[in-house]
Amino acid sequence: MDSIRMAKIRVVGGNQLNGELPISGAKNAALPLMIASLLTNEKLVLRNVPDLADVRQLKKILSNHGTKITSPTEDKSFQSAALSFETPTITDTCAPYDLVAAMRASFWVIGPLLAREHKARVSLPGGCAIGSRPVDYFINGLKALGAHIEIDEGYVVATAPGGLVGTMLRLPTPSVGATPTILMAATLARGTTTILNAAMEPEITNVADCLVAMGAKIKGIGTRKLVIEGVKKLHGATIDVVPDRIEAGTFAMAVAMTGGDVLLRNAKSQHLQAALDVLQASGVDIVEESGGIRVRATGERLKAVDVEIDTFPGFPTDLQAQYMTLMTRANGTTKIKETIFENRFMHVAELTRFGAKIEIEGQGATVSGVKTLKGAQVMATDLRASVSLIIAGLVASGETIVSRVYHLDRGFERLEEKLSACGAKVERIND
Ligand code: EPZ
Repeated sequence: MDSIRMAKIRVVGGNQLNGELPISGAKNAALPLMIASLLTNEKLVLRNVPDLADVRQLKKILSNHGTKITSPTEDKSFQSAALSFETPTITDTCAPYDLVAAMRASFWVIGPLLAREHKARVSLPGGCAIGSRPVDYFINGLKALGAHIEIDEGYVVATAPGGLVGTMLRLPTPSVGATPTILMAATLARGTTTILNAAMEPEITNVADCLVAMGAKIKGIGTRKLVIEGVKKLHGATIDVVPDRIEAGTFAMAVAMTGGDVLLRNAKSQHLQAALDVLQASGVDIVEESGGIRVRATGERLKAVDVEIDTFPGFPTDLQAQYMTLMTRANGTTKIKETIFENRFMHVAELTRFGAKIEIEGQGATVSGVKTLKGAQVMATDLRASVSLIIAGLVASGETIVSRVYHLDRGFERLEEKLSACGAKVERIND
């Protein structure tokens, strides 16, 4: 096992968090924005791109399609990584299994490839720890746009010889992956496309705003109904990646757990209002400031507040594990209902190793608050579960060792560094 896969994180609990936590660019915006660069032969510059394993993996996929990726150094005004993407010609319309399986959002390249090249051969992404993650909404949406699609040896083989044609389609559920994929495809289709029951997460709004900056004609941005008038060609643009609301929500829960006073620099409250409202109801002080969101907590036991997960603007599934962790020490019993993924309670077994009391029944979890948690050796199972174990460790007595932290590195930039700067005892160790 190479050193990255053996890396662990050691946490010693008991310290409050105080100071400032800079919020990085959103992983789930950066990925589709990078993919949008395939739609044009001109340069797309993305600012505030987080330095994450998933971003690095997607760079490999895009390079395979012929995209040249550089870091423009001429403008030092960027607060963090800025990357430019230029695909003069698409040299390969195939996205191979070994690359797609490593980062499932790579599958979304099928939209721009079809739109620009009228053909694509993209590996089915396969499932992951939290669910089977099918892509039927993507396939049916692209078929509705006139694509001919077959499944051949684990690949989706899509062709649209005369180009895509605008249509009206309704998504069965507001899919965060299918919405931007079909939206990107529709920007270059002939005629008008209406997407009903579209997802409206802030990351999707970021993508739609980027497409408009590239010359696309889109109405209804930020709503469940997107209307796209196809254009012949898209041009280059420069776009800022929105701050990561899941990182902001995760850190807010960490402060709520440990107590302290932290400014979440650049966080936008309107991107995670449902989660902030629940935290306030549980007794956390949340104040919107010009530079971000300030979170203040005493570290005492919080009030148990039930949560039902929902698509935006509801309470996000990507904060479910972190919130469950917070409620393990609440004063009372909390009911949490996961409505998006069929297997997103993998963190429960690990949390019980800290002494948490959690019962699962189907898609529901009942958390009975306990006064204290005790440090333990635990294992990360998926991206958001892994950070929930770190949060538990921040307040558990003694030492916690989290293994398989490669899950964490997919979606959190410099996590130990940011938390340590606010007083946490967190370090990466190689066993
Ligand atoms: C995106 O996944 C995110 N990933 C996930 O974040 C996030 O948890 C999820 O949206 C929900 O918000 C990225 O943005 C890269 P969906 P995605 O399509 O696109 C079913 C993280 O931790 N479905 O909204 O896969 C699906 O099985 C990751 O950053 C179909 O049945 O989410 C699921 O039950 C984890 N058929 C539900 O819809 C389809 O064709 C939601 O999926 C597509 C989806």
